[in-house]
Amino acid sequence: MRVAVFSTKPYDRRFLDAANAGRHELLFLEPGLTPATAPLAAGADAVCAFVNDDLGAAVLELLRQAGIRLVALRCAGFNRVDLEAARRLGLTVSRVPAYSPEAVAEHALALILALNRKIHRAYNRVREGNFALDGLLGFNLQGRTAGVIGTGQIGRCTARLLAGFGCRILALDPYPHADITALGGRYVDKATLLAGSDIVTLHCPLTPETHHFIDAGAIAALKRGAMLVNTSRGAVIDTRAAIEGLKSGAIGSLALDVYEEEGDLFFRDLSSTVIRDDVFARLLTFPNVLVTGHQAFFTVEAMSAIAETTLRNITEFARHGVAPDALSVEKLA
Ligand code: NAI
Repeated sequence: MRVAVFSTKPYDRRFLDAANAGRHELLFLEPGLTPATAPLAAGADAVCAFVNDDLGAAVLELLRQAGIRLVALRCAGFNRVDLEAARRLGLTVSRVPAYSPEAVAEHALALILALNRKIHRAYNRVREGNFALDGLLGFNLQGRTAGVIGTGQIGRCTARLLAGFGCRILALDPYPHADITALGGRYVDKATLLAGSDIVTLHCPLTPETHHFIDAGAIAALKRGAMLVNTSRGAVIDTRAAIEGLKSGAIGSLALDVYEEEGDLFFRDLSSTVIRDDVFARLLTFPNVLVTGHQAFFTVEAMSAIAETTLRNITEFARHGVAPDALSVEKLA
């Protein structure tokens, strides 16, 4: 098959080429997928898209007109895809349901440890010859309570790591999992989790129900000064409400790997341009905020697994017309 790969970075090319081993013709395109760039897929049978690519109805229609039959996402989250439109247009959409939950969970832990012990500030201080400890006070994870929202693959892995540090686990998920109770964790309601946790870490998908799940009301319900960590999807947190929460002290510290409006920022070098997003710029002014640019998935193991699964979906679709990890409105209902 001819596959138009959108939002390609050199590292995508490296891992996809290795997994492809010459089976398909991969056309690597740097632009992200938008209504303006969709015609670049003309002549291909499939497109391969990433987290911030636009797969709304308008783009899907353009892809269909260009002769595309398969949209192979090289990520787990599919909140940018209009699945109803895909069904109507007869487009198959596949994703990578699980590649390395450990990669994301370990990054969540890295953020928690760095933010708690102020490693981001200590790093800069030491380089400037400032060895003062004021402002670097942290807390022991041992004996603290961690609230895990969403106990799917990544949430459970994060819970295991936190339990390993001696944290008590509170969990929230419409589908409780025995692994959490095996760790000594307890499923509770949202209010109990927010009020009882020193650290709240988000691992649910972005859906209409979880959009702004952490809003002003949820922030007011947090244990005062709790750490909030988001490695799921940006819009699970109302960023403006989080800024108010940081200003009032309701949120003690905030770690983000994802951001509501990250589509205009992340995955590119903007170091020589002016950041126009004032909300994002305000976030960066807080000493107790740590932001990474959607890199939680970015390990050798995860990239290899993403590429292998994406190519398997493409190959199986080419052979049998069915992608093993196809999404459908019916399946999700
Ligand atoms: P998963 O599907 O295994 O687990 C998601 C869990 O969230 C499920 O158990 C589900 O029941 C639960 N959930 C759904 N609605 C909920 C709600 N309203 N309240 C509480 N729990 C709810 O997904 P997985 O693999 O654990 O990934 C989770 C999310 O992490 C993905 O949807 C994606 O958005 C994000 N992600 C971020 C990455 C990054 O690089 N930062 C990489 C991979 C995934």
